[in-house]
Amino acid sequence: MSDTLVLGIESSCDETSAAVLRGERELLGHVILSQDAHELWGGVVPEIAARAHLSVLDDVVDAALRDAGVRLGDLDALGVTSGPGLIGALLVGVSWAKAAAFALDRPLVGVHHMEAHLFAPGIEDPEADPPFVALLVSGGHTLLLMVEAWGDYRLLGETRDDAAGEAYDKVARLLGLPYPGGPHVERLAGEGDPERLRLPRPMLRRDQAPGDTDYYDFSFSGLKTAVAAAATEAPPADVAAAFQEAAVDVLVAKTLRAVAQTGCPRVLLGGGVASNAGLRAEMRRRLGRAAGDDARLFHASPRLSSDNGAMVARAARFHLLRGDVADPAFSADAALPFPGLRS
Ligand code: KG4
Ligand code: ZN
Repeated sequence: MSDTLVLGIESSCDETSAAVLRGERELLGHVILSQDAHELWGGVVPEIAARAHLSVLDDVVDAALRDAGVRLGDLDALGVTSGPGLIGALLVGVSWAKAAAFALDRPLVGVHHMEAHLFAPGIEDPEADPPFVALLVSGGHTLLLMVEAWGDYRLLGETRDDAAGEAYDKVARLLGLPYPGGPHVERLAGEGDPERLRLPRPMLRRDQAPGDTDYYDFSFSGLKTAVAAAATEAPPADVAAAFQEAAVDVLVAKTLRAVAQTGCPRVLLGGGVASNAGLRAEMRRRLGRAAGDDARLFHASPRLSSDNGAMVARAARFHLLRGDVADPAFSADAALPFPGLRS
């Protein structure tokens, strides 16, 4: 099974992507098409997203297969993101994959989008396998997990309101920057002075203890409100810098709590916000200080950190080898529970 050919399809939000993966990490073909129609609206418009996936998915799959030099009939299995995400967008990928799997008589694997983000760094780095503490930071989710083994996920903390990427996107909008806001806020922050104003670190206090319910949880909506207030008086670059510093401080501090409590010095960063160079650098610095030579930080390149079909293909391969294949009733689920998640 080491050279299994898996096609991975992603259409849960505003990227249409397909990848052909041979074995564990040989990416033969990979195409990611980001929809830019949403920029005008300052956020993803579900109906526009679904229609856009529908109009390009055939071509995206064709291009990935062409790059890989394989035909549909050569595939051993198909994997598709079946949730969570925008239901209309998910259904485009799931319907396509169900029809193709049926026509080709190949197994189909439904993949949880956030579990797929965990599989991305390992495509580029063979050491990025469990055990690790994972911080998953995307536009819709913020999850802190202890991953002892693939398929075994212990939930340590999650956001109680906005996701980390959502906070970046809302701050971008407040500062008049385009959607998706993360990279724009990061760039502007680089031009500002984070010391000129201090923003709150929501849900992060010294007196919290490991048993407390807010020890690992996150909250970003208050930070966004503080940014809105600061933006009326301070220069935008300084506001962006102070926001970036506060958000990164909270994300790193909670991850290091998990490292201390679990004794696991290996950390994996996943999701679109993992592209943030400031977050990576601060995580590396403080993890090194906490764990010394044992410290390991895994993250994918920006292309594989944001939504893509390659991570879906690798996650699908794992489930395929375990026999977790879809039955005929399989469909998309906008609120799909994280498989193997326990508290
Ligand atoms: O994982 P992803 O591509 O899609 C979802 O599953 O949501 O994550 C997208 C999120 C967006 O909120 C975007 O603003 C954020 O990731 N993002 C960043 C950066 N690049 C993307 N946030 C902060 N800094 C970045 N460099
Ligand atoms: Zn994502």
